[in-house]
Amino acid sequence: MTRPPTETHAAAPHQMWGGRFTLGPSEALDALNRSLPVDHRLWPQDVTASKAWVHALGRVGVLTSAEESQLLDGLDRVAERLADGAAIGAPDEDVHTLVERLLYEEVGAAAGKLHTGRSRNDQVATDLRLWTLDAIDQLDADLATLGRTLVARAREGIDQILPGYTHGQRAQPVRWAYVLLAHAWPLVRDRQRLADARRRVAELPLGSGALAGSGFPVDRVLLKEALGFRSLSANALDATGDRDFVAEVLFHIALVGTHLSRLGAELVQYASSEYGFVRLADDFSTGSSLMPQKRNPDVFELARAKSARLLGDLLALLATLKGIPAGYSKDLQEDKALLFDACDTLAVVLPAVTGAVASLSIDGQRMLAALDASLRATDVADLLVEAGVPFRESHRLVGKLVREAERAGVPLDQVPQAVAASIHPALGAALAQLGSWEDSVEGRATPGGASRKSVEDQLEELRKLFAPGGGA
Ligand code: ARG
Repeated sequence: MTRPPTETHAAAPHQMWGGRFTLGPSEALDALNRSLPVDHRLWPQDVTASKAWVHALGRVGVLTSAEESQLLDGLDRVAERLADGAAIGAPDEDVHTLVERLLYEEVGAAAGKLHTGRSRNDQVATDLRLWTLDAIDQLDADLATLGRTLVARAREGIDQILPGYTHGQRAQPVRWAYVLLAHAWPLVRDRQRLADARRRVAELPLGSGALAGSGFPVDRVLLKEALGFRSLSANALDATGDRDFVAEVLFHIALVGTHLSRLGAELVQYASSEYGFVRLADDFSTGSSLMPQKRNPDVFELARAKSARLLGDLLALLATLKGIPAGYSKDLQEDKALLFDACDTLAVVLPAVTGAVASLSIDGQRMLAALDASLRATDVADLLVEAGVPFRESHRLVGKLVREAERAGVPLDQVPQAVAASIHPALGAALAQLGSWEDSVEGRATPGGASRKSVEDQLEELRKLFAPGGGA
């Protein structure tokens, strides 16, 4: 069946291709193929890379110097129009077509020379890498802000002692500062990973043409310097089809999300009436439409849930990449929606988590009240070791003491002396030697332990790492 041309010619006003077709794209194809609704935000990068390209074409004599200035001025005017919203509602196929159409509107036929020796394949890879470099810097700054917030809250919380948990069970006493710092260190690693990825993102694809290199002897080294890249891609077929940099950044983002989810999960628990260790500030709490008393930790629940979405973005990209050969396939157009979604998600989650952590109040009494004497069991076992009992034996003896305490319904340190002595003669003395909770925490003074000195060392190291200019 032949379709009436009117139905199919109504599409884009400007097209980068089509000479070999008698019919324009159908509406159905256009609706699937058009990427402008997603990639319009690459316009600043597209204009920047195009300006560098104009210089490169000028140097190899494709453009006269008059044409060069005409195109550069024209691109500046295009950028102004785009900053004023020219992309909104634009009918173009993608951001590259949009920029070129606007350039025609500004400078006329000379615009037709801009795409010499260039393909949208190397163009989009360049634009997206430029965008990703900025996104990494923004993410790094947001992570550092959360890191500084955790450190500041930890500094205030060095005297507060609470149970440290493993398997969800009270295990040994620790400092509140120490718990917060356990969530700060992963952010240090996140920033290191992003900095490492950044080096690979900063590899310039421009000058790769569609797949086999540019047909004009453009100076790629100058392009690299003009655009602030670190190195040149080594193989044009790889460079135009490579989205490892997106996958890598999406992985790092998914891991950031996982870290925020763990922090969120822990704080949701501590904010519950059962724990009551922390209370969210009014402006970071949400209420219930039915139950007037509720103070819900939606911030941390959403941080937990959004991390699932970030995992989805990573998985979708990997699944997209795995079936396609080297070089560009249109599948690659889907990379941007995933990367933008992930970056946009963290751009909302991180400030909210940071604000909620900054304004949490702490209930030191509830923390203290959760410390029960069974948390001294390891201390008692260690004291027996000092009295000459091998640890495996002391562990067994203290286990018996725990059993006795449970049977008698008394705290571990209240087991009658006679009962303790009947388990082992040194046990009574060990129980009498137990000091305060502070003493117990100070007993674990290895570097990285929960003692005051160790926490102070960590605070100092993290202060430097999260300071502007610190980090990776
Ligand atoms: N919109 C496309 C993308 O995002 C630009 C590259 C198109 N290349 C092509 N050969 N059709 O991937």
